[in-house]
Amino acid sequence: MRIILSKSTEDAVDTVTTIVLDKLTSHPSLVLGLATGRTMEPVYEELVSKINKNSVKTDEAFFFMLDEYIGIDENHPSSFKSYIKKRLMLPLNLLESQFAFPPTNLAGEVYEELIKQIGGIDLQLLGIGVNGHIGFNEPGSSIHSRTRIVDLTDETKNANQSHFGQEKMPNKALSMGIASIMDGKELLMLVTGKSKANTVKYLLNHHDDESCPATFLKSHPHFTLVLDPEAASKISLNI
Ligand code: F6R
Repeated sequence: MRIILSKSTEDAVDTVTTIVLDKLTSHPSLVLGLATGRTMEPVYEELVSKINKNSVKTDEAFFFMLDEYIGIDENHPSSFKSYIKKRLMLPLNLLESQFAFPPTNLAGEVYEELIKQIGGIDLQLLGIGVNGHIGFNEPGSSIHSRTRIVDLTDETKNANQSHFGQEKMPNKALSMGIASIMDGKELLMLVTGKSKANTVKYLLNHHDDESCPATFLKSHPHFTLVLDPEAASKISLNI
């Protein structure tokens, strides 16, 4: 695992977007796995701006979404499809055919097959939940899990309820599994903010611990963790 400690949140976002931009420049047919959530909002904003500024080609790239809620229409403003349409697809004039969305009406195996057919995910972007979830692989998820329907924990629902206003937030999602994520050739996780400081501390001090699914990623040969100062505030690294 490679850990990058940043001087500021902006610096952390710059690190992540620079890594993605470099990959896209050297490998225009990059297959990029996309996470959603608040952490990723500035990442997509800056990525769009850097891609435009540097005239980087995106028409050969392909994108896989990590997860999607079940029980809401795909065009619901809080669906992950709407999230990525607004932040990446429309601003970059990407085609919908360049994206794969978890097929919430079908079995997860269909998605796994699609990932395999395309040759796997080159770079997977990830955030982390306060409870250590990745994608929507909640605590208790197995290292062998694949794309499947998952029940969201109360903690996750509370963290995301504000996206749904007065409306009740979905109880379920379709999420790539931990084994599906681990198949990615490179994993890039961004963690920002003091609400994640204890999560980061736990992550760094535990291994293969189902109660914090992100710990499984530490055995991936190419896992980079980018932290802002607040997310890193409870760890001490001997450098
Ligand atoms: C969603 C996803 C989740 C989020 C996590 C953190 O696609 O992958 O694992 O990364 O819930 O969400 P934020 O960034 O909103 O704290």
